[in-house]
Amino acid sequence: MIKVHNRLYMLETDHTSYWFYITETGLPVHLYYGPLLEGSSEPDDLIRALDERHSFPAGNLISLDPEHLSVTPEDLCLEMSGCGKGDVREPFIELVFADGSRTVDFRYAGMKHGKMPAADSDCAESITDSCTEGLILPHAYDETGNTERLILTLQESAENLRLDLVYDVFPECDVICRFARLYNDSGKPVRIVRLMSTQLDFARDDLNMRSFHGAWAREMNPADVPMHAGKFVVSSVCGISSNRVNPFVMLYPDGANEDSGLCYGFNLIYSGNHYEAAEVSAFGKTRFVSGINPSGFLWQLKAGACFDSPQAVMTVSGSGFNGMSTSMHRFVREHIVRGTWKKKARPVVLNSWEAVYFNINEKNLLRLAKKAKEAGVELFVMDDGWFGNRDDDTTSLGDWNVNKKKLPDGLKGLSDKIRKTGLAFGIWVEPEMVSVRSDLYRAHPEWVMEIPGRVQAEGRNQRILDLANPAVAAYLTEQMTSLFDSADISYVKWDMNRIFSDVYSKAFPPEQQGEIAHRYVCGLYRIMQELTNRFPEILFEGCAAGGSRFDLGILCYFPQIWASDNTDPLTRAKIQEGYSYGYPLSVISCHVSDSPNHQTLRETPIETRFNTAAFGILGYECNLADLPEREFRKIQEQILLYKKWREVFQFGRFYRVSGNSLQASSAHSAHRSWITVSEDRSRAVGYLQQEMVTPNAQHAVFRAAGLDPEREYHFCNVPQDVDLMSFGSLINTQTPIHVRQNSALHRTIARLKKMPGEQEMHTVSGAVLMNAGITLQPGFAGSGYDESVRWFQDYASRMYFMEMVE
Ligand code: DGJ
Repeated sequence: MIKVHNRLYMLETDHTSYWFYITETGLPVHLYYGPLLEGSSEPDDLIRALDERHSFPAGNLISLDPEHLSVTPEDLCLEMSGCGKGDVREPFIELVFADGSRTVDFRYAGMKHGKMPAADSDCAESITDSCTEGLILPHAYDETGNTERLILTLQESAENLRLDLVYDVFPECDVICRFARLYNDSGKPVRIVRLMSTQLDFARDDLNMRSFHGAWAREMNPADVPMHAGKFVVSSVCGISSNRVNPFVMLYPDGANEDSGLCYGFNLIYSGNHYEAAEVSAFGKTRFVSGINPSGFLWQLKAGACFDSPQAVMTVSGSGFNGMSTSMHRFVREHIVRGTWKKKARPVVLNSWEAVYFNINEKNLLRLAKKAKEAGVELFVMDDGWFGNRDDDTTSLGDWNVNKKKLPDGLKGLSDKIRKTGLAFGIWVEPEMVSVRSDLYRAHPEWVMEIPGRVQAEGRNQRILDLANPAVAAYLTEQMTSLFDSADISYVKWDMNRIFSDVYSKAFPPEQQGEIAHRYVCGLYRIMQELTNRFPEILFEGCAAGGSRFDLGILCYFPQIWASDNTDPLTRAKIQEGYSYGYPLSVISCHVSDSPNHQTLRETPIETRFNTAAFGILGYECNLADLPEREFRKIQEQILLYKKWREVFQFGRFYRVSGNSLQASSAHSAHRSWITVSEDRSRAVGYLQQEMVTPNAQHAVFRAAGLDPEREYHFCNVPQDVDLMSFGSLINTQTPIHVRQNSALHRTIARLKKMPGEQEMHTVSGAVLMNAGITLQPGFAGSGYDESVRWFQDYASRMYFMEMVE
């Protein structure tokens, strides 16, 4: 709800309040953002109670103007700040005027508020075109009719420029979105050095910033930085949001944790160079800004033109990190992801990449597909290697013609044959790229992002097509349209394996080269919008060398993203947990792969590989036809189980369960623990994973979260049979004759001797499960083993299933 009382603005969601007011000088001053404030005080009393009063300028602060000496911008909490008028902190907006000056001074000029236009789930209707020359920027959308919009208009005091600060309030998700729109009515060109999406000033200096860092195959590692002085910046200049650091960040005071305390979450609906900065001022105030990265950005705003910044997303919770995540998850599910697949169960996939890599041919694909069908898989995805002369990564990107040597009956022939096995069919593409060794590069070198006359940097032997050029974007849209029309294609994996270098568009003049990275992203959005409109039934999955473009911009078009090329369950669990702070399970694509794992060479149990991948959109990425029978049967059981609980795995409310210990001590092992709970709280699945076993540490507890405390639940696990081989030479303590370890005899006994794992079975209340937890069967501690003992060694894991008693 948006309430405007004279000069006080109160933006309220179901559980949060965001307040600011307009001072007599026309500056919008921030008052509060946090858990809902109730009461019916007079607006002026509230302003007096909450705002700092400045009677005299302190020290050597700069005053706004001669008439307002006590107004010192450096020491105000502002909704937006410019530069050159004494506020020496991170600015919201930075411009260069035609005369070369840079000082800006925006003051209140008016406001509008009302309902945000309701959109149906059709992409075309639900994406707002930016005002900038028809460039497209996706926005959060609303189907409920409950979202309200406030537009606060500010006017530059000397030049004829208008700045709209646009706030959208999503009540049920406790989310407020912001972006800015700058109009140039001055009759002269203006250069935009930066125009942020949001700014939030806190009158405190005790916050910590958590951001998520990484690289290929190790995305989303949380890093916490205490913000008591100075500035901390995370940003991408990779051209894409990147695996180096995600645009999602958190701010929280000391003492906040997973389940309690204040926690702010921020994200950006943008897939390009992003920038998030927290700065503590000389006066103990913390400023947060987020938007397009100013580094490398310079926009020529012509007379009469306007420019939009991307939309930023903000939420706050008084219930700790999990509370913040719950709001973000709901927001992404309801207001970002759209189209046919928004709420539709996602199919279980078999992806060919780690099974055959580039060695694709019809025979091995069909063999794999038949086996996949037998396993219970629903969708077969042919990854890289099917087109041009693509036998490795040095060639053919851009030439999207099927390789007839590999697939003699073409894509259509293959898709028909895959369909006949009972599976849906999907393909891999990397449309934004071109190999130098390709027909497309030879035909259109001017379409490639390269600086003329320079030696170009290389990345995976490929160059980037210039999507800033509308002709290239239009060509790619038609290319992909005819490709997707050419066969029975239900799914497309859209990859992007190279970060930007040598950024330059041959289609734009020198003075506009600072616009190219942003224009590229808008060009990409245009292509994605067009294709998702033309092919509403296709399930698109985003990918960029794994999770190098995992962001809300992509999720406005593609309902899921391949989270990482790392499928080693131990390190993958950390990556998935990293994503879970800002993104729901329904957008995180996860696969079970071979052991030893192809990225880490670590050997892990098939159960742990499945248990980890099941917390998200499940797929398999290994040669099912080569697996030992025992493992294949397990996979069949896993897929059956996943389908039975699919709704909970994909669309449940997810919590990181902190009570089940992540710290190893001399008497406890380190456990990672999660739970996903159905919306009505009737069903839940818990996850417990062990890194390294601690000797003689038998006891562990599984605590739940998110259940109804007053209802009873059945709690159980699916017993995992134990492989006798894992006991090594200990077998000799049980056998009358000596058995040499790994001998044929050892393997035969292991095959014949069934060793069912421990069974948990309880009926207790949600309150018991959440507060006391279930004390699990004792773990193996080196001094005996039977069916009641939990085999829970290095990299072991369990799933626990909870169902409400009727
Ligand atoms: C990178 C992706 O992340 C992988 O899954 C795979 O599709 C390869 N590209 C193919 O080149």
